[in-house]
Amino acid sequence: MKNVILYGAGARAREGYNAVKAQGDIPLCFCDEDVLKQKSGCLGLPVLSLEQATTKYKDFLVYVTPLPPVKFDIISLLLDNGIGKENIINYEESVIKTSCRSLESNILIFDHEFHYCCGLGTLHNPPPNVRMTDNIKESVDRFLEYRRQLEDELKSNGGACAGCCEVKTGYFPKYYKIKSISFSPSYPCNLRCRYCDVVNETQKHLTSTVKQWLKDFKFDLLINELRHRNLLDENCTIELSAGEICINPRCDEILDAVKDFNVILFSNCTVYVDKISEICRQPHSFLLESLDAGTRETYAKIKGVDAWDKVIANVRHYADAGANIHLKYVVTNENVSNADLFGFVELCKEIKPQYVRLSCDIHSDFSNLPQTIIAFAIILGRVCIENGISVLVLDHFGKANDNFIKSQIFG
Ligand SMILES: C[S@@+](CC[C@H](N)C(=O)[O-])C[C@H]1O[C@@H](n2cnc3c(N)ncnc32)[C@H](O)[C@@H]1O
Repeated sequence: MKNVILYGAGARAREGYNAVKAQGDIPLCFCDEDVLKQKSGCLGLPVLSLEQATTKYKDFLVYVTPLPPVKFDIISLLLDNGIGKENIINYEESVIKTSCRSLESNILIFDHEFHYCCGLGTLHNPPPNVRMTDNIKESVDRFLEYRRQLEDELKSNGGACAGCCEVKTGYFPKYYKIKSISFSPSYPCNLRCRYCDVVNETQKHLTSTVKQWLKDFKFDLLINELRHRNLLDENCTIELSAGEICINPRCDEILDAVKDFNVILFSNCTVYVDKISEICRQPHSFLLESLDAGTRETYAKIKGVDAWDKVIANVRHYADAGANIHLKYVVTNENVSNADLFGFVELCKEIKPQYVRLSCDIHSDFSNLPQTIIAFAIILGRVCIENGISVLVLDHFGKANDNFIKSQIFG
């Protein structure tokens, strides 16, 4: 059992904290040069400057919470301050080059394509991708080969990633390891969420052959192949993020293949799966249920299926089984009634999610986002906090609205 200082009290603080606890070590404090964070503390621990922390504690290891490339700046700062690499738990060798975080660490699987990024948010270029075939080994070879090509082209500022604002010159990992995989087949799914373009758009264009291919796709074998090639970081996060895992014909095999990693398991909870409970009981993993309603009528309207009773019973079952749960609310014009607000909050009080995640439809016109949506997000956030429920405002409302909503909820 070792004493650990966590460097970085930002977005990845909880993951770092959980990783340290999972090793049986003792988190002493966070370190962060941000004065506001030093005032507020983080996860119940004090936040100190590096100087304060190294004065206060003598015998400690350090865990760096942010992902590369920020991680490497912090490692460099720690080394400069006399903390040896043997004392940095998650030390990683780096090199200076031109690349981007997604290319260095992500895989997104959209239907039958491997992508290096999603192209959303600030990632302005169309996401470069490689077509997958039934031959998983060969598909992985082609994915790696194209990645090397993109890297080479970036050396001379060319190729499919050229000009993307995520491309930076700075520290990147010396050895390629995948830190995040999203598995997002658009099929099969058993709900018809109004806001979801996966079911409303993408699925429409799938032929029956492609649908069958997606149902048969052996994501578990892909994970095993990447693992076998030693390409997965030990702290890799796997998102099962589209289609619906609980009705996927390979649900069992997929859950077995991902269970040793950090899993963000998106499920609509229309079917209770014991293995989902098991996985989401682990400190780094959680079930993400987008409930988007507080009444059965609204649920049926938004989700296109009258499954409220079944879903609520299953969410309760997961909570009783000790699963970590994040409940999401995509605020739209159709779920902003008082009945929804209080119905949702009552459920939260009962099942105690780790977080309530607030979002709106990511395809909204953010410059014209209706006041009712903004006001509802603020009120829901405040009422959750008043009831001791932690809230995450996702950066999905457009930058100005995100900032406004956060300032109104968190002060
Ligand atoms: C497409 S669903 C599929 C996974 C799983 N079946 C589920 O219900 O969570 C994955 C996530 O995408 C989110 N999502 C889909 N379309 C969205 C949109 N237009 N705006 C915001 N979130 C969206 C849902 O809220 C959900 O959390």
